[in-house]
Amino acid sequence: MDTAPAPFIPPAPKPRSTPPSMLQMIRIVYRNPLELWGEPSYNEPWISVSSFGGPLVIANDPGLVRHVLVDNAKNYKMAAVRQKILRPILRDGLLTAEGEVWKRSRKAMAPVFTPRHIFGFAQPMLKRTLEFVERYEGESGTVDIARDMTTLTYEILAETLFSGEIAGEAGSFGRQVDHLFETMGRVDPLDLLRAPDWLPRITRIRGRKTMAYFRKIVSDTMTMRKDRLAREADAVPEDFLTLLLRAEGPDGLTRAEIEDNIITFIGAGHETTARALGWTLYCLAEAPWERAPIEAEIDAVLAREPDPTKWLEAMPLTRAAFEEALRLYPPAPSINREAIEADRYKDLEIRKGSQVLVMPWTVHRHRKLWDQPEAFIPARFHPGNREKIDRYQYLPFGAGPRVCIGASFAMQEAIIALAILLSRFRFDTVAETKPWPVQKLTTQPQGGLPMSVTRR
Ligand code: HEM
Repeated sequence: MDTAPAPFIPPAPKPRSTPPSMLQMIRIVYRNPLELWGEPSYNEPWISVSSFGGPLVIANDPGLVRHVLVDNAKNYKMAAVRQKILRPILRDGLLTAEGEVWKRSRKAMAPVFTPRHIFGFAQPMLKRTLEFVERYEGESGTVDIARDMTTLTYEILAETLFSGEIAGEAGSFGRQVDHLFETMGRVDPLDLLRAPDWLPRITRIRGRKTMAYFRKIVSDTMTMRKDRLAREADAVPEDFLTLLLRAEGPDGLTRAEIEDNIITFIGAGHETTARALGWTLYCLAEAPWERAPIEAEIDAVLAREPDPTKWLEAMPLTRAAFEEALRLYPPAPSINREAIEADRYKDLEIRKGSQVLVMPWTVHRHRKLWDQPEAFIPARFHPGNREKIDRYQYLPFGAGPRVCIGASFAMQEAIIALAILLSRFRFDTVAETKPWPVQKLTTQPQGGLPMSVTRR
């Protein structure tokens, strides 16, 4: 007889049964856009409406998603609202660049993300994770896993980007990163209303000083490394910084673009993975029957395979739990585009200038696409099942030409982190663990993730 417990249903806003008023809508967008979506957003293949910002299409159907992100991608540019928030921070970094600059940069950066280089980052990832878990030795209290995972992924990023050689005072860089994205990276209601640029955005003013300071550290770090490369090219670490500086040149990147991309990697490359790790540990704690076989898998692999580049392949159950957490809590919950020219998909008319939202949040929880969409069921991603999932109904890393360039980096990092964390410690929820998913730049657990850590 099958005695498997009912799957764990993690917290999420219930689809709205009635649309919010204009005023409510502005408040929700400011507080938590995930609370905006109603029943149709989780049931219909697409929704086409006229909002206060102009025509809006919500694309859930995998065929439509493919049309917008891949087949007719050239007709869709980055949405103005997203660019308004991110461009002042990231400028011509890959995430916010468009047109020729984007094309040249993506090409120039592709070699940095080849499997050879990603594998080369496995040891630094492992080293930083091993150092990080030291702090849990002898720990018997409650820690905030959301904050800790951000620290861990930040430390991994600092190691793989700069090998720890950052200009300025140690520790200050990490704090500035947090502050910068907290203050600058917010949706301001004025952006949604398409208010003119000269109206100051209160949500962003505070971030400007931080940004100037932060850019200076990055620029000094680049100068430091360039000097070192000129002096002792062979002895310099093969980290992101060296690889990017080697991409400098007429067909590659300018110095300013390298600086923008370093800031982009910091912005796009650590909080995203941290959120996914936190949600994975949380879901596994609430579903210990899922956690037990994963612990066994990790123990067996670590006992026979010391090479961390092999772990992703060797740990299908661990990977599946992480992928399921990415489904339920996609760190990038919305991929926003704008139609350059009028377009059509089947009987859907997409007007010129329409906002097109491909939302991993609603696509991943869509009633017509998933069985028990709101439940944590890692088996969906076990070998044999995973192949049945349409490529365009599972979009944690996006799709098409602008698919996440760091996806393999993130997957390798996540598995190394989970392997080390779960092989040594058990993470359990406590009475105060009551996370609520909130969309800021990433899908964050409001209230953090207080959890107990004990030696296994
Ligand atoms: C679990 C972790 C991550 C998630 C869920 C994630 C998600 C995404 C998504 C959805 C996009 C597409 C955005 C769009 O089409 O508008 C994207 C793009 C991007 N990601 Fe990631 N990402 C992750 C980790 C990383 C890492 C580790 C890096 C860098 C080391 C990175 C760098 C980038 C960059 C540079 C782009 C822009 C690519 C382009 O437009 O050509 N990401 N990411």
